[in-house]
Amino acid sequence: MKARMSVIAAVLIGSFFFAVSASAQDANLPHLEKRDAVTQLIVDGKPFLMLSGELYNSSSSSLEYMKPLWPKLAAIPLNTVITPLSWELVEPTEGKYDFALIDGLLAQARAQHVRVVFLWLAAWKNGMSSYPPVWVKQNTKRFPRVVLHNNPANILSTIGGYSDATRDADARAFAAVMQHIREVDGQEHTVLMMQVENEVGVLGDTRDHSPQADQAFASLVPAQLIDYLKAHRETLEPRLRALWLQNGAKTTGTWAQVFGDTARADEIFMAWNYARYVHGVAAKGKAAYNLPMYVNTWLANDDNIPGNYPSGGPLPQVMDIWKAAGSAIDIYSPDVYDPDFAKWANRYHRPDNLLFIPETNGGKNGAANVFEAVGEHAAIGFSPFAIDGFHEGTTDLGESYSAIDAIKPILLEQQTKGNVHGFTLSKEHPFAEFYMNGYVVRVSLDEIFGNHAESGYGLIIATGQDEFLGVGKGFRVLISPRSPSSFKLGYASIDEGTFKDGRWIPGRRLNGDENDQGNYWRFDPKSVRIEKAVLYHYE
Ligand code: DGJ
Repeated sequence: MKARMSVIAAVLIGSFFFAVSASAQDANLPHLEKRDAVTQLIVDGKPFLMLSGELYNSSSSSLEYMKPLWPKLAAIPLNTVITPLSWELVEPTEGKYDFALIDGLLAQARAQHVRVVFLWLAAWKNGMSSYPPVWVKQNTKRFPRVVLHNNPANILSTIGGYSDATRDADARAFAAVMQHIREVDGQEHTVLMMQVENEVGVLGDTRDHSPQADQAFASLVPAQLIDYLKAHRETLEPRLRALWLQNGAKTTGTWAQVFGDTARADEIFMAWNYARYVHGVAAKGKAAYNLPMYVNTWLANDDNIPGNYPSGGPLPQVMDIWKAAGSAIDIYSPDVYDPDFAKWANRYHRPDNLLFIPETNGGKNGAANVFEAVGEHAAIGFSPFAIDGFHEGTTDLGESYSAIDAIKPILLEQQTKGNVHGFTLSKEHPFAEFYMNGYVVRVSLDEIFGNHAESGYGLIIATGQDEFLGVGKGFRVLISPRSPSSFKLGYASIDEGTFKDGRWIPGRRLNGDENDQGNYWRFDPKSVRIEKAVLYHYE
């Protein structure tokens, strides 16, 4: 009896300790946290900015191939690498998991002090279904496909009910991955976040036309979605709101009745079905190991027709549909290859969605746009695609990353107070203007003795009422009182410098031609600089 009692006690004590250590671990996991004006990624108790790059799709399928790349990636310098992880390699045979790639990639990343975001390439990548294991691809009865123009496509169906076996198999594998990451990384936190699937949506038509999809499309819009529309009526994304209102703001009806019998209704219907699936997979993964999770988006302009781009992916006009379907996805992210980076950053940075750029152009464009992203939108990360190509311009990106890395603690602190602005300038858009500390800050392309900069980019942080920290190149800054005013402002001092272990190391005092005889705070076009400016007041 006594022996039995002590066994029970041991089990109870053991499970108590397990519960304590598991929850202590959870509290410390990488997570998103609202800090005053912004939401930040918190890693090991501190805000973390992912200065990142995404690998080509196939690089991380081989540890040998990756081995020589890690030191080069770290030297760019990146602090985070976004790396594919595919269902086909994790679960080549149903129920038999192979985590060797996860373990190997984590060991390689840790050796270079680089963090990792994994892309769960599973049911869909770029709309298509090339990444599921072959036992999924082959079994079209159990794992049905989208029907387009009367033919099954190479796209797994996501229609609720009809595709539940696919979702459940995908979710089981993803949960196993998350459980494994918890076991091997629950203390070290090399893995910061997970991307669930990749650029989902139907390509080739506006929606799935399988009989099951047609039937679902002819059914009533679920109450869960209608309730969301009613509850968020005033704040819905403007095009979605307009569409719903134009069709009578109905609170019951089929998809075509509520949203109109057009391609837009098809896109909304697909968004709802993809969202339910993806939230379902993410939720199972989070139950195993609760990391932040995001989805990425193949973007398209408003005049494009869904199906030319993946119909149902979380584009701005259907982001609310995704939000109505669940909350397991924390971030909706744009893959910005469009030259108008600012437009997409604005659309994805919403009060209910922080900005994270998982894919974009690298090189000189990336070197500039990272300032817009982290300076103007408090993005938690920036990640040009095909980073392991080390294309032309990678040194420009590295130059921007190094400077941003040096000022990171101040940047992340001042973001929470709304004291940061970022910008990119070009011949077409040579000015930016904003308010800081009650002053008007005018930024323009640099120019001295008739020499004009071709482009300029940077960010400005208000570090005190009359003190500013700036980073970037190719621009000049004029700070004036908001008129009418009883005083004028001049530059008391401008110093270039850098930060070492958080300490400011001043370099040259910039005066004369370097501040246009006291008229402007200048950032030379030749290289990215970190500079401090102090203002004085006079009458
Ligand atoms: C977007 C995808 O998400 C990436 O995996 C890659 O295929 C790029 N497009 C290619 O430009």
